[in-house]
Amino acid sequence: MLLRWKSGLQLQLLLFLGSLGFLCPGVRAGPEQAESTVELDFSTEWPVHLVSPAFLSVTIDANLATDPRFLTFLGSPRLRTLAKGLSPAYLRFGGTKTDFLIFDPKKEPTFEERSYWQSQVNKDICKSGPIPSEVEKKLQLEWPFQEQLLLREQYQKKFKNSTYSKSSVDMLYTFANCSGLDLIFGLNALLRTADLHWNNSNAQLLLDYCSSKSYNISWELGNEPNSFRKKSGIYIDGFQLGEDFVELHTLLGKSAFKTAKLYGPDIGQPRGKTVKMLRSFLEAGGDVINSVTWHHYYLNGRIATKEDFLNPDVLDTFILSTQKIFQDYWLSLLFKKLVGTNVLMANVKGPNRNKLRVYLHCTNINHPRYKVGDLTLYALNLHNVTMRLQLPYHLFNKQVDKYLVKPSGPDGLLSKSVQLNGQILKMVDDQTLPALTEKPLRPGSSLGLPAFSYGFFVIRNAKVAACI
Ligand SMILES: *[C@@H]1O[C@H](CO)[C@@H](O)[C@H](O)[C@H]1NC(C)=O
Ligand SMILES: *[C@@H]1O[C@H](CO)[C@@H](O)[C@H](O)[C@H]1NC(C)=O
Ligand SMILES: *[C@@H]1O[C@H](CO)[C@@H](O)[C@H](O)[C@H]1NC(C)=O
Ligand SMILES: *[C@@H]1O[C@H](CO)[C@@H](O)[C@H](O)[C@H]1NC(C)=O
Ligand SMILES: *[C@@H]1O[C@H](CO)[C@@H](O)[C@H](O)[C@H]1NC(C)=O
Repeated sequence: MLLRWKSGLQLQLLLFLGSLGFLCPGVRAGPEQAESTVELDFSTEWPVHLVSPAFLSVTIDANLATDPRFLTFLGSPRLRTLAKGLSPAYLRFGGTKTDFLIFDPKKEPTFEERSYWQSQVNKDICKSGPIPSEVEKKLQLEWPFQEQLLLREQYQKKFKNSTYSKSSVDMLYTFANCSGLDLIFGLNALLRTADLHWNNSNAQLLLDYCSSKSYNISWELGNEPNSFRKKSGIYIDGFQLGEDFVELHTLLGKSAFKTAKLYGPDIGQPRGKTVKMLRSFLEAGGDVINSVTWHHYYLNGRIATKEDFLNPDVLDTFILSTQKIFQDYWLSLLFKKLVGTNVLMANVKGPNRNKLRVYLHCTNINHPRYKVGDLTLYALNLHNVTMRLQLPYHLFNKQVDKYLVKPSGPDGLLSKSVQLNGQILKMVDDQTLPALTEKPLRPGSSLGLPAFSYGFFVIRNAKVAACI
């Protein structure tokens, strides 16, 4: 499942916790006390779901290539270190601009790209040095103007075509490959012949170039085709799009990408006419895709308020943390390190449960401290008071490691930094992520979760059969 968050222009990090099948409607909270205790109920006989190890993946919005000079940001060792922390994951390059980008193999790299590549000559490509500082400064200075331009395009729904060069492709691929992310590239679906079939000639040029470099890429074709008319005045129906995918599949079959994965159709919210479009798309093209993709938005990131994020009704479909609120990067990193692929069932007993979200997985046993059979419980407390969680009786005396995430500093929930067990999380240097240090709890103690905080709890030696 691939998801995209509409705001943000660089790495967009998503924590997708929806559709796990056990979000209860619950009862509204009554007057709250300063603290309250709730009992948890687990059922751990067998997993209710299995998620991919790539669960929780990231998108780079294709509008970063509107002016390809800004792709130079992807050379940042710091950004690569952050991205590497989330591997294994997909890196999707996509968004509205997907259908307005044209590959031009004859185009020269920009001055900024060229300076970057020159500074990396004779270096192992994945042990990249910094972006030349004058280039980085210049781009940072110009970025706010670029951001304005991109916002304007988006609000006016008038998108200009942009071209990108071989160098742009190299920049993107190197970033993905060196960060251990699997690149999914969205091809332009709005290149059309007179009779509205997809014109594959530009895709062919890109495939040729990528095979010549032995790049390993998965593909998409088009972004939110349900709103093509609004964005470009061209209407493509689901059936036509399905046939276009079949054509792309044929093209891939004749190239070095015979076994490459193909995903689509990246429709927006599946409702009304969009569902109809999906149905006819699947009729014509269902056989050639490896996964069906759609986009879920629950809020517009630019106008969402703090209250929106704390509204349990909104969260009933999705729980998402943005940089603005919990600096989701760190949360994503904890998720990747502590949470395994087997999903188990956890519930809060009694009323008042929709403001306390609990999820239970087997622990990610790639973590050196943990072993097969351990459990990871993670919980989000939307109450304005501390909640104390009590483990089910049979786990009561287990040793538990706590990883409590809270915003740090006077800005509270809107804070830009985050603390883990009381320590502010920040990179040690460009190459090093901070240690994510647990706080072992006394066996038998309840799991305290302060107001508006997020916590992971690893229950050690749980010896849960479904995790073995
Ligand atoms: C983008 O380029 C394609 C191919 O040349 C053309 O058909 C389309 O009209 C252009 N779109 C815009 C918005 O200029
Ligand atoms: C497809 O696009 C290419 C490049 O713009 C153009 O040269 C070619 O004539 C187009 N083919 C068709 C069938 O429209
Ligand atoms: C991708 O990265 C791996 C190591 O991380 C390297 O061995 C491989 O050559 C890279 N592939 C390309 C096409 O750059
Ligand atoms: C390409 O990447 C996929 C993961 O997305 C991997 O399963 C596959 O083995 C890779 N293929 C090659 C030829 O390296
Ligand atoms: C918690 O929220 C309730 C309303 O939901 C409010 O009445 C109460 O004063 C708040 N308590 C604190 C400590 O902020």
